[in-house]
Amino acid sequence: MDQNKDNSNKEKEPDLYSPAETPALVEDKSAAVKEAPKGLKKGEIVLREHSFDGIQEYDQQLPNWWLTILWLSIAFFFVYYIIYYSLKLLPTSTESMDQRVEEIQQMRYDALQVTLAKLDDEKFVNEWSTDLAIVARGKEHYAKNCSSCHSVDLAAYGGAAARPLNDGVWEYGDKPMDVFNIILKGTPAESKGYKGVLRMQPWEKDLGAEKIAEITAYLISENPKDFAKFKK
Ligand code: HEC
Repeated sequence: MDQNKDNSNKEKEPDLYSPAETPALVEDKSAAVKEAPKGLKKGEIVLREHSFDGIQEYDQQLPNWWLTILWLSIAFFFVYYIIYYSLKLLPTSTESMDQRVEEIQQMRYDALQVTLAKLDDEKFVNEWSTDLAIVARGKEHYAKNCSSCHSVDLAAYGGAAARPLNDGVWEYGDKPMDVFNIILKGTPAESKGYKGVLRMQPWEKDLGAEKIAEITAYLISENPKDFAKFKK
């Protein structure tokens, strides 16, 4: 009870803690409180009257540059919120990202249409697979993207990892356009895949139609007999 009273009447009671040990600080305090904090000289320090276990706080004004940043950020928030979320004058980053993705998909689709318009079974065999530059590019793409499963020699490690591409068997159609399409679209949804489990992903997204056409040309050039019927 006694102690409670001590706390509430702190102002009137003598401070039992710090004053005796830090007389200089207390002197500063009384001087500072009497003066108005406004008329301070640069570098002059004011202590708040409040003291807790002998610990006191400075009574300083926040620097103007700091306050300017604070108020500007608050103002910026309102402007930003109104432009992007209330009035929707500009697209948010999510919206512009979605729009960009849509554009890319459209570009990819257009590119596929352009490539497809250039292609048919005869053109693949007579033009693409006989063009050494195209075949060389196709071989390069194949080595990078396909050889891990189908192996560099096209034998797919004796058919262990994937369907061999040099055994004269074209499971999903033996026309050049069939080969192009199976690479483009991967294992068809209705198929169980190789050995009933092994499926191939579609490559259209990773490689694009043009590179897949070049790979197809390379595969044709490596299997001339399989596609001889289209030779003119
Ligand atoms: C992760 C392993 C893997 C990679 C990488 C891979 N394939 Fe395949 N591929 C397979 C499997 C498994 C099959 C058999 C799928 C099926 O039967 O449905 C297959 C099937 C094929 C077929 C069909 C063969 C046929 O008999 O009709 C072709 C063509 C083919 N791949 C070409 C490619 C090309 C070109 C690439 C590179 C762009 C490639 N593959 C990359 C695993 C792979």
